[in-house]
Amino acid sequence: MFPIEVKNLKKSYGSLKAVDGISFTIKPGEVFGLLGPNGAGKTTTIEIMEGLRERDSGEVKILGLDPWKNGYEVHKKIGVIPQDFTFFEKTTPKEAIKYYAKLFNVKADVDTILKEVLLDEMENHVFESLSGGQKQKTGLALSLVNSPELLFLDEPTTGLDPNARRAIWEVIRKLKAKRKTIVLTTHYLDEAQQLSDRVAIMDHGRIVAIGTTEEIIQQHGSGERLEIQGEQPLADYIRANTELQVEYSKTKEKITIPLKKKIDMLTALTTAEQSGMHWGEIQTRQDSLDDVFISLINKPLGEQGKEVKQKSNKKELH
Ligand SMILES: Nc1ncnc2c1ncn2[C@@H]1O[C@H](COP(=O)(O)OP(=O)(O)O)[C@@H](O)[C@H]1O
Ligand SMILES: [Mg+2]
Repeated sequence: MFPIEVKNLKKSYGSLKAVDGISFTIKPGEVFGLLGPNGAGKTTTIEIMEGLRERDSGEVKILGLDPWKNGYEVHKKIGVIPQDFTFFEKTTPKEAIKYYAKLFNVKADVDTILKEVLLDEMENHVFESLSGGQKQKTGLALSLVNSPELLFLDEPTTGLDPNARRAIWEVIRKLKAKRKTIVLTTHYLDEAQQLSDRVAIMDHGRIVAIGTTEEIIQQHGSGERLEIQGEQPLADYIRANTELQVEYSKTKEKITIPLKKKIDMLTALTTAEQSGMHWGEIQTRQDSLDDVFISLINKPLGEQGKEVKQKSNKKELH
């Protein structure tokens, strides 16, 4: 059984389609990153999975249960950090954990939890005196009180400085090592890339790409290409003497050749050499996740729709 199964999930606020027919499954022990710009529909999706919002349509199974109909049972088994987590100002992390344990009616090993989230040194400092990162760690600590196998973290590092972000990453990695299944939303690409086994890129309520970051780059990126610094006649020469697709940028004085096969590189360079013309620096380039992300979320809505259809067909083949 998959801990999370979502099929054709939809949710509108009035005429706004916040979640517009998304499907995915998450495997046990997987860290799944929901990546997307503000307003993409990440929080709506995660809160529906947590049983905090009602969906309009579609199927959602969390640990085999419908989170809306079986909210109580689901809440007992999951850990949650809401977006913009905050707590009573005068409460210490230690007290907060004890308070939550009472609420859940469970015995919590307070010291172990504090260590797990790297907060043991701050256990007796009141919430309002903690740094942003320590506040988030308090949230993480609370999400662990009921020893959940499944965690939902909604933008756990937004607004934190780079060091604090890395400290949160470390905690998340430790939780992953303990085989917890984790759903993480973020608008930071590096965070999704660092932590997630798989990523879904969301935009306008739809999933526009899903898979490992390598898969996403391969499926949606423009592939590997060779760039040669040189002048127009060289580009023309290579074009005339090979079957390669040769593009030329006058302003950058750069010849770009997509490499469909590795041997294309040898063909291009041998031909350049044969031309007897001057050529400068050479390099190969491939789209990064940033390049792909920017191109995906800037596509007009209609085109994204097409892509989602193709993607979901592909997924079902696996
Ligand atoms: N309770 C709500 N009522 C009306 N609109 C909402 C509500 N919650 C979210 N929205 C809108 O739905 C869209 C998706 O929001 P959200 O799920 O919070 O996205 P994200 O978490 O990716 O930023 C946004 O346009 C947001 O303004
Ligand atoms: Mg959000």
